[in-house]
Amino acid sequence: MPDFTLTVEPRSSAAQRAEILTSPGFGARFSDHMSLIDWTADTGWTNHRVVPYAPFTLDPASAVLHYAQEAFEGLKAYAHADGSVWRFRAEVNAERFQRSCRRLGLPELSTDDFLASVDRLVEVDRDWVPTGAEQSLYLRPFMFARSPFLAVKPSTSVTYAVIASPSGAYFGGTGVQPVDIWFTRDFSRAAPGGTGFAKCGGNYAASMIAQQEAEANGCSQVGFVDAVEHRYVEELGGMNLFAVTTDGRVLTPALTDSILEGVTRGAILRLATESRLTVEERRITLDELYAGIDDGTIGEVFACGTAAIVTPVGSLRDRDGVHIVGDGTPGRVTLSLRTTLTDLQYGLRADTHGWMHRI
Ligand code: COI
Repeated sequence: MPDFTLTVEPRSSAAQRAEILTSPGFGARFSDHMSLIDWTADTGWTNHRVVPYAPFTLDPASAVLHYAQEAFEGLKAYAHADGSVWRFRAEVNAERFQRSCRRLGLPELSTDDFLASVDRLVEVDRDWVPTGAEQSLYLRPFMFARSPFLAVKPSTSVTYAVIASPSGAYFGGTGVQPVDIWFTRDFSRAAPGGTGFAKCGGNYAASMIAQQEAEANGCSQVGFVDAVEHRYVEELGGMNLFAVTTDGRVLTPALTDSILEGVTRGAILRLATESRLTVEERRITLDELYAGIDDGTIGEVFACGTAAIVTPVGSLRDRDGVHIVGDGTPGRVTLSLRTTLTDLQYGLRADTHGWMHRI
């Protein structure tokens, strides 16, 4: 494992932390420290460190500000009842980060460096891991191009960082509340040969106008269809989508190069199979989804992701109408998969897959 130098300066008092951790929301508050590693084409990866959380000083010409050469990850650290702290399948995030960086012309960070950067930060900011129901410390590794030039070519210097944010429910509120999804017919998120499979800021930037459209129509998330035929369901603005048929089949779009391979998506597919549900990863048209919801053969729809965990979907909407899923309340299979996953993450169920790692 690489050595990280630690510069530890707790900024927050126990009382300030306690106030934040009581009701952390999502992604708005940050712990006292961050991990950093530098890279240049000449030196490779150097200067592995944990330092106090602080703003970056960036040259206004930094490549990321102009050409969005950037990639990121999302994972969580979970507090167990005995006070231990665990991460979930972080090696899978490390490998996806390598694929994303490769696609963006960024240098690849080794899995060892990725895991150590996360672990050292969580060790230093252990007091920031919330212990409330379904709370966690959301970890955001990211890498950006910082060479100061305006020519369009891969940066020869980058910064890699991890920040940590105590988090509760992504969509806010308490308990498991269904969300409504707006399917945009005007905007695409990603196209074949593009960056859709990579976790990079550009994909999320491309989703913002459609997210605005969703919110203007009273929905909390936007859904996208493919950019070629405009009929196959791909994913949501920030999570993957599943449907459950009343005869016990679990459907989700098969991966393409315009769909992000969700870590939670993979876990749900495995847990569903182990629950003797039939899993179908295949092309699914939006019309098939609407027809199944309307005739009752699809009884449940849910979104999933590290941030969203498993979130029931109450309705799918677009400019032509509304399709209420079942009776609009969370379905049995959705809740059972959600509980199986969260019990595992919070140490309430045996980790038979070797997915959890104690930090
Ligand atoms: C995640 O679930 O980690 C995501 O990336 C979703 C979003 C917050 C970008």
